[in-house]
This record gives sequence, C-alpha cells and structure tokens, in this order.
Amino acid sequence: MILDGKALRKRILGNLAGEVAAFTEATGVTPCLATVLVGGDPASAVYVRSKRRACERVGMTSRHLPLPGDTTQAQLEALVDELNADPKVHGILVQLPLPAGMDSDTVLNRIDPHKDVDGFHPSNVGLLALKKARFVPCTPAGVMRLLEESGIDPKGKMATVVGRSAIVGLPAALLLTHAHATVTITHSRTPKDELEAAVRRADILVVAVGRPHFVPGEWVKEGAVVIDVGINRLDPAPGEETGRLVGDVDFEAAESRAGWITPVPGGVGPMTIAMLMSNTLVAARALTQ
Ligand code: GUN
Repeated sequence: MILDGKALRKRILGNLAGEVAAFTEATGVTPCLATVLVGGDPASAVYVRSKRRACERVGMTSRHLPLPGDTTQAQLEALVDELNADPKVHGILVQLPLPAGMDSDTVLNRIDPHKDVDGFHPSNVGLLALKKARFVPCTPAGVMRLLEESGIDPKGKMATVVGRSAIVGLPAALLLTHAHATVTITHSRTPKDELEAAVRRADILVVAVGRPHFVPGEWVKEGAVVIDVGINRLDPAPGEETGRLVGDVDFEAAESRAGWITPVPGGVGPMTIAMLMSNTLVAARALTQ
C-alpha cells in the first residue's frame, strides 16, 4: 500500500487552517514564518516557494528574505538577529544548504531556539534527545506522522535508518527509539554486507542518503514499511527535458515486497511542509502568552 503524503498533507493543512483561524481570532496575532534563502540554488528556491504557499493555505503570513549568493556570514547573522528581535516573526527558517564557505552551524546556533521551527538549534536537538522536544525537525516528524496516521506502531519492531544526518537520519532514529522500536543506524561507513543485513531485517526502513536507488528492492523484507526520504533528480533520458525524480530506494523493485511504501515524489516531501506549518503554529502559541 502506498503511504500518500500528499493526501495527508491536505488533511493536516485543512485542520491547521482551522486552528490558525481560532488562534488569530483569540489573540489578534497572525503566525508568521520568515524564510531566508541565500543564493540561487533552484531546488532550494522550489522548496522555499512550497513552504510559503503552505503558509498562505493555512492563513499564516510568510516573510521572504532572499539574499544574494555573495552575502557574507556577518550579513546573514545580522539578519538572523533582526528576525530574532522582531515580535511579528514567530518562526525562522534558513534554507539549507548555504553556499559553500558559509558556516551553517554558526547561523543555526544564532536562531532564537523559540523561533527555531526546523528544530536544528543545539538546545532543541538536546530537548528532542531527552524526549522533551520543543520542535521536532520537520522531515522526521513527517515520517512519524505518516506511520501514525496509517496505523503503524513502531513498538517492538525492528527499524533500520540508513543515513545519520542531523536533519533526518539522527532525529528519525531518536523518534523511532522513543516510539519503542529497536533501531539500527547505518551510514556511509557501514560495511556493505552489514548494511544489507540491517535492511533485510527491518520491519520499518527509513532511507535518507540522497543517492538514487541506493537500496535495491530485493533487500526489502516482505511486508516491511519503507519510508524513502530521498529526492534525487536523474539525468534526462533521451527525449526528456528534465530528468525524473526518484528516491533512495528502487521503488519499482521494492513495491511488490513492501507492505507500505512512500512514493517519490508525494511521500515524505509534502509531510515535511505540513510539519513546518504545525511547528510555526506551536512557535506562535508559545511566543504569544
Ligand atoms: N534543506 C533540506 N531540508 C531542509 C529542512 O528541513 N530545513 C531547512 N531549513 N533546509 C533544508
């Protein structure tokens, strides 16, 4: 069965629109997400546009702050300081990756943790690890919500996470652990045979490495839940203008073995945006006391 993130996003955004309207009615405050985009990376521009469109759909405002690719670290940090100090801004999202040569850790550490709707600030990472999350990072939050809404309980299951990034792999492993799964984390230095063994035993498989078809379909356990976080654009085939978008798992081969599987696109991606909207409302509520 397909885990349809697009349909679920629609439902979540519909519910959020009601909650935002009630919040604004009660407080006179409209939640506002500031999006910061440095440079002209086309994929990042697409993601930021989707995030801003989602704000509109739920009745929040977004303030877009595009900066040229030659922005200095100091200029970006000064902008973050301004947004931190602005009471009209509830959430701050600095789109990653930043241009080469910029230090994203320093920038992320500078965002007010109470406005850190990505959940990337060290204090928010710490709270998440301790099961006291203020903001759960959007992509892993979306993964957990997809499972929950599909009636899939990780409790007692063997889960394998492929990838250990701070944005997806690591927090996904924490959340699955908190949900009582037994979690194996694998990554680029995991020996190939161990990687295969870990994938083959997974009842729940989360793959976030950013490499097209990294996991062969025949490794997928019969009936497993396959969550493919990867979004990779292939080179255009002859006659195609742009290449196809594919995940990190060989979908065609995995589909017949998996019990549940996310499509790419239309699986995890839409959920990330829905969770960002949810986090922005959480921020606005907490900052409007
Ligand atoms: N780039 C890829 N994923 C993300 C994300 O979740 N947040 C931000 N800020 N940048 C990203």
